Amino acid sequence: MTEHRSKPKPGTDSTRRQFLKDVGFGVAASGMIEPLLDNAYSQTSDRKVKHRVLGKTGLSVSEIGIGGHSWAYKRVPDGKGGLRRPTVDEAVRMIGKSIDMGVNFLDSCTALEESSTPGEALKRLGMRDKVLVSIRVSHKTKGIKADKQEIYKWTEDRLKLWQTDYVDFCLLCNTERDTPQSGYWDMSYSIEALDKLKKQGKIRFTGFGCHFTPELFLEAFEKFGDYFDTCSLPYNIRHRGAEKLLPAAKKKGLGIITIKPFARGALLKDRDLKGEDAGLPRDMIAFVLENKLVDICTCGVHTLDQTIENLSASGVKLTPGQRRRLEKVAGTPVDVQEYAWLERDWRYA
Ligand SMILES: NC(=O)c1ccc[n+]([C@@H]2O[C@H](COP(=O)([O-])OP(=O)(O)OC[C@H]3O[C@@H](n4cnc5c(N)ncnc54)[C@H](OP(=O)(O)O)[C@@H]3O)[C@@H](O)[C@H]2O)c1
Repeated sequence: MTEHRSKPKPGTDSTRRQFLKDVGFGVAASGMIEPLLDNAYSQTSDRKVKHRVLGKTGLSVSEIGIGGHSWAYKRVPDGKGGLRRPTVDEAVRMIGKSIDMGVNFLDSCTALEESSTPGEALKRLGMRDKVLVSIRVSHKTKGIKADKQEIYKWTEDRLKLWQTDYVDFCLLCNTERDTPQSGYWDMSYSIEALDKLKKQGKIRFTGFGCHFTPELFLEAFEKFGDYFDTCSLPYNIRHRGAEKLLPAAKKKGLGIITIKPFARGALLKDRDLKGEDAGLPRDMIAFVLENKLVDICTCGVHTLDQTIENLSASGVKLTPGQRRRLEKVAGTPVDVQEYAWLERDWRYA
């Protein structure tokens, strides 16, 4: 399931032909891909993204994954002063390039905003079997009470979105607002539902996590760590609370999927990424990957250039100069109301 075909040397005609083939002839024939292809290969070496073992799943996973927020939100300039979502054609190029560079982990967005784009892109690429797909279910964020039927329904809907018969991971993904009052911590109903989905062959592995506090994570490791296979939590140069939690998660053998290496882009805002801050996103991912308890760093991307830069973080050894630059970034408060929970609960150095 995770094997990758070998890639010829970049810059050669055969590479070009192979890549055009990889990303789908229809897209290539439109001529849209040509300039991006040149751009892509001018910026990358032959480097592949390294793999790590995802905890008790035993799966070999790319240490960098592509996040689901990439497809759901309007973050790409539309040329008319507004913003739009990446198109399926763009997703084909970004996902095709990622797989080409060794990526095999594709995450979903917050369940409420999940998009059909990555599923459609994978179908066009014919590469569903080259990647591990992770979905997130969080029906209670809709105010729906704990109910196994809801988990089945949300999973079915997601299988349709991803155009697949099964997904590799189903992550229960609630927020602190759902806990503990809503009964989130009585996960017995979810565990029964997940077991049934596993038996039906619709999901392979399970996980939990998201926007709740470090204390709630610790409680969850203790109560549910034996059952679940993975957990997903925020970690970046400024929000380092995960460092205190990961040893407890590892004791339970949980695979560690980190999210938000850029605090959803807030840590990159107003940076001169083409000038003195060039390479900063790469270094921020390299920082997360320095922590050997992390198995996958999942990042959101909106363009092919962002994708290529972020994947180039694999194998980077940070220099003292790069570390000094990261320390400066870590000292910058994230003044965005939406991320107040990160600043409040996850700041620790
Ligand atoms: N509740 C949930 O289910 C949940 C919650 C959080 C995260 N996640 C998962 O974790 C993933 C990662 O978190 P995230 O996407 O919120 O945050 P993130 O990866 O910290 O930040 C993504 C943003 O950073 C910017 N960016 C990325 N690479 C860049 C580059 N090379 N140069 C410049 N800017 C760059 C982009 O901003 P612009 O838009 O400005 O281009 C992008 O939108 C998500 O996609 C999702 O899979 C799930």
